[in-house]
Amino acid sequence: MPAIEVKPGVFWIGVNDRTTDLFEGIWPISREGVSYNAYVINGEKKALIDLAKDFKADELLSQIAQIADPAHLDYIIINHMEPDHTGVLRTLRRVAPQAEILAAKKALDMLAHYYHITEGVRAVADREILSLGGGHTLQFHMTPFVHWPETMMTYDVESRILFSCDAFGGYGSLQGAIFDDQCNRPDFYEQEALRYYVNIVSLFPKPVLRAIDKLQGLDIDIIAPSHGLIWRERPEHIVNLYAKWASYAEEPADPGVTLLYGTMYGLTELMVEAVAEGVASAGLPVEIFDVRHTHASYVLPYLYTRRGVLVGAPTYEGGLFPPMMDMLHMAEHKRIQNRRAAYFGSYGWSGGARRDFTAIAEALKWTFDDVWEFKGAPSPQLLREGVSFGRRFAGAVLADRA
Ligand code: FEO
Repeated sequence: MPAIEVKPGVFWIGVNDRTTDLFEGIWPISREGVSYNAYVINGEKKALIDLAKDFKADELLSQIAQIADPAHLDYIIINHMEPDHTGVLRTLRRVAPQAEILAAKKALDMLAHYYHITEGVRAVADREILSLGGGHTLQFHMTPFVHWPETMMTYDVESRILFSCDAFGGYGSLQGAIFDDQCNRPDFYEQEALRYYVNIVSLFPKPVLRAIDKLQGLDIDIIAPSHGLIWRERPEHIVNLYAKWASYAEEPADPGVTLLYGTMYGLTELMVEAVAEGVASAGLPVEIFDVRHTHASYVLPYLYTRRGVLVGAPTYEGGLFPPMMDMLHMAEHKRIQNRRAAYFGSYGWSGGARRDFTAIAEALKWTFDDVWEFKGAPSPQLLREGVSFGRRFAGAVLADRA
């Protein structure tokens, strides 16, 4: 998309990435894409804020050139060092060797090690002011661990635009519209912001809340993150969502159940249907994921936001079905703790999944009462018990919220 003026003298010059399959080499985005939002402030001095992934160098240079000659940039402002935002830096340094790179102090060591850039770099301090002239004054705000330790945000005082980098961003390439008020798929971007938050940022809830608290003193008209929509109609909406999501790390999550299942020959799957019926009959929403075919990226947002976790998987070689172990280990990695859980699954002769489930549920500080192994194929009587199992579990989830 051509450059778009966000406010007088402030331009979005970002690029879409519909090529990368796995963000950070882990998280699927081949269907959704992602945008690398970058911005040029065209004051008396020219500043570029945030960049893009390495293979987008040529495209980004063309975007910049619509507003200013890249060779004549005065400042390159690095809010965050992760290479989705800095990959083009070495190319840019060749094109604009005179441009001073401004970043948080902790970024300097990263610049040296990631890109071997040590000259023409200056660390900026928290709340430091930089006048660009032409009605633009920038102020830098250190927001460590949203997402890496060197992360900062940049605020244009006169335009009242906050360039927030990862914070308030999301997956999803831009589809002809960059602003929230122009977008006709708000649910898509909101869900992809949640997926981005849980996949990328959620390990740092306290830094997120600290950053939001710190921003309270700023008069913000527009939130311009480095991924996804620019929030000019409802900037408070995305801030409130981030605050709510960060709070899930401490508070019980929403009433609702994530049902994770895996099955070898369809026997545990039969029970999945019965248990889900029980949960639904108690009036709770239940989202069902086959862990054999669903990437953790899509499951984690549900685990993260819902109080109840049902795990249905068979015993495999004396332990819990390995694809389920993988999924639960990812939940452990993302510290999705303090949930209510239960286990059910089929076994052939000795069982054993129970032991693995119990160990990982305890490690996750999940509360669980029901751990139910049944032999072989569930009989009609057993399926009726499965409905009761689901209903009982839903009742416990609801009671947790009472
Ligand atoms: Fe968008 Fe932490 O990178």
